[in-house]
Amino acid sequence: MSIKIAPSILSADFGAFAEATEELAAAGADYIHIDVMDGHFVPNITFGAQLVRALRPVTGVPFDTHLMIENPGQYVAEFAKAGSNLVTIHPETTFHLDRVLHQIKDAGARAGVALNPATPISAIEWTLGLLDRVLVMTVNPGFGGQAFIPEMLQKVRALAQLRAAQGLRFEIGVDGGVNADTAPLVAKAGADTLIAGSAVFHHPEGLADAVSELRRLANAAVPESPHRNGGR
Ligand code: DX5
Ligand code: ZN
Repeated sequence: MSIKIAPSILSADFGAFAEATEELAAAGADYIHIDVMDGHFVPNITFGAQLVRALRPVTGVPFDTHLMIENPGQYVAEFAKAGSNLVTIHPETTFHLDRVLHQIKDAGARAGVALNPATPISAIEWTLGLLDRVLVMTVNPGFGGQAFIPEMLQKVRALAQLRAAQGLRFEIGVDGGVNADTAPLVAKAGADTLIAGSAVFHHPEGLADAVSELRRLANAAVPESPHRNGGR
């Protein structure tokens, strides 16, 4: 199965999100990754559900919304209704992770959790059966353009092993510092979906070449294996 590429519009020109989304769709992006930041859980502020709603008519490519916000239970249904196909939250942001994951699903979206670099897999152990994606943060969330944290490769491997051992189907994503050098490493460790902001938007040959290069390098690093997920 092919590795999926999810470019993050956090690295786009903030005055031209619709154009960037159109261009990414034409480039063959598997998802559009939308980074929502509230200035509390993370230091930066970006945009909200209005942006998801405004971009929804632009493309049929699934929207993968990454909520880096406190009190996500108050907002997940709104993001799903606005057109997010997958809504990912951080377990650190809610006392009631299980409840909020159900709220996402009840609103018709797929549900994901993102793990900060210091957050162990055990924090989500009892929700794994509910999840459509586990997103391994390979930087501390808040900004694009940060350096990849190599210790997170072990977390990706551990998740891939756990998934196989329990016969689960969640997708494993990696987010932060993914580029031509690190894409093969995360793919080999067991990631199915690679989120990339700077490496896509700052590629000298443009978005389409960036997406296809990441996909090619990642796929080349992984021999076909029945234990991989990837087919969702
Ligand atoms: C970081 C965001 C990432 C970010 C990745 O908080 O969650 O999705 O856009 O950007 P790069 O690929 O530049 O590290
Ligand atoms: Zn993200």
